[in-house]
Amino acid sequence: MENLSRRDWFKSSLGLASGLVVTTSFVNQLMAGPASEAERAFFASRKMGQKKVRLNSNENPYGPSEKAKKAVTAILTEGNRYAFNELDDLKKTIAAKEGVDPSYVMLGAGSGELLVQTGIAFGLEGGRVLSGYPTFTLLMNYAQQMSAQWDKVDLNEKLEYNYDALLSAIQSDTKLVFFCNPNNPTGTFVDTAAVKSFCEEASKKTLVYADEAYLEFMEPSQQKSMVALTQSTPNIIVSKTFSKIYGLAGLRIGYIIAHPDTLKKVAKFGDTISPSQTALAAAKASLGDEDFMKMTREKNAVARKVLTDYLAQRKMYCGDPKTNVLFFQAPKSGQEILTQLDEKGFLIRIWDYQQKEWCRVSIGTQDEMKQFVKAFDEVVA
Ligand SMILES: Cc1ncc(COP(=O)(O)O)c(C=O)c1O
Repeated sequence: MENLSRRDWFKSSLGLASGLVVTTSFVNQLMAGPASEAERAFFASRKMGQKKVRLNSNENPYGPSEKAKKAVTAILTEGNRYAFNELDDLKKTIAAKEGVDPSYVMLGAGSGELLVQTGIAFGLEGGRVLSGYPTFTLLMNYAQQMSAQWDKVDLNEKLEYNYDALLSAIQSDTKLVFFCNPNNPTGTFVDTAAVKSFCEEASKKTLVYADEAYLEFMEPSQQKSMVALTQSTPNIIVSKTFSKIYGLAGLRIGYIIAHPDTLKKVAKFGDTISPSQTALAAAKASLGDEDFMKMTREKNAVARKVLTDYLAQRKMYCGDPKTNVLFFQAPKSGQEILTQLDEKGFLIRIWDYQQKEWCRVSIGTQDEMKQFVKAFDEVVA
C-alpha cells in the first residue's frame, strides 16, 4: 500500500486514497475494512433496506442495560455542557476499579478511537508493527497507512494466538506488538500465565498493546487482565471497551490504561473531550453491573452452543470459542454465502486467511442462532 502523509491521509477517508475500493459507510460498518475479496464484491453489489439479523459486528443483543438507559435519559438535560467533570469522574471510577492512578486512564469514543490514535502515533515514524493474524486489525491498518510495515504471525492449529512465535518475531525496529485475548475473530482465549510471561518478555523489547475487549465474556475467575503490568513498565497499553459485554457499542466509549508518558504519545492524535455526556453516563451506570454481565454471559453461552453443536455435527472446526464470536472455514464460496445469507436476512463476515475463506459469525440471541443454523445449513447444503 502506498504511504500517505498524515495530512493527506486525514483528508481522505480511511482506505480510499490507498487504493481500497470501499465506501466510507462500509468502512464505518466494519471498523477495520473488508477482510476478504468476497466482502468487497458483496458490499459493492448489496441492496440495503431490509432489516437483518446482525451476526457481523460482535454486538451484545441484550444491551444497553436498564441502568444505562436510565442514566442516559437523566443526563440529556446536561447535553448543552461539555463533559469535563463527568470525564474526570469516570476516569476516577475506572482507575479505582482497575487499581491504577487516574493519570493512567485515557477515555475514547470507543476503544476503536484509541486503537486508531495508537496506530497513528506508533506508525508515523516507520519501522514495524507486529500482531497475530487473524485478529482485530484496526491499529495495524492505521500504522500501515502511516509508514509502518505490518508483520503477521499465524494462529496455531487450535485457532489461538501463538505467543512464542509472536515473541520470536519481534525485530530491532518493531515499534509495537498487538495482541487480543480473547481474540476477535476466533473467540479463542489463551491461558493468562502464558500471556503474562509474553508481556513481560516482549515489553523489554518493544511496546505491547493488549486488547481485552472481550475479557468479561470469560467467567469472573478467569478474567485476568494485564493491567497490573502497566505499573512496572511504560511499555504496556491495555485496552477495554463498553461495546461488548456492557452492550454500549452505539454509544461509543472505551479506554486504555498505560503509564502517563505512554498515554501522552497516544493523546497527540485525539480529542481530549471525547466521549459524549450520554456515553459517559451509560458507562458509569454499567460499570460493575454484575447482574447484567452475568445475564449476558449466560445467555451468550447458551446461544453459542446452538452454533458450536451444529458446527461439530457438520465437522466444521472452530477451536474453543469463549466469547460472542467464532471462526471456521467456509464450506463454499464466501461471496455466495454472504449473498444467500443476506437474502435470508442474516449478516456475517468472510475473512481471507491462509489462501482460504473463513466465516466469522457473531453470537446473537438463542432464537437468532437457531434460525441462523437452519438458514446456513440450507445455504451450504
Ligand atoms: C478486539 C476488538 N477491539 C476493539 C474493538 C473496537 O470496539 P469499540 O471501538 O466499539 O470499543 C473491537 C470491535 O469489534 C474488537 O473486536
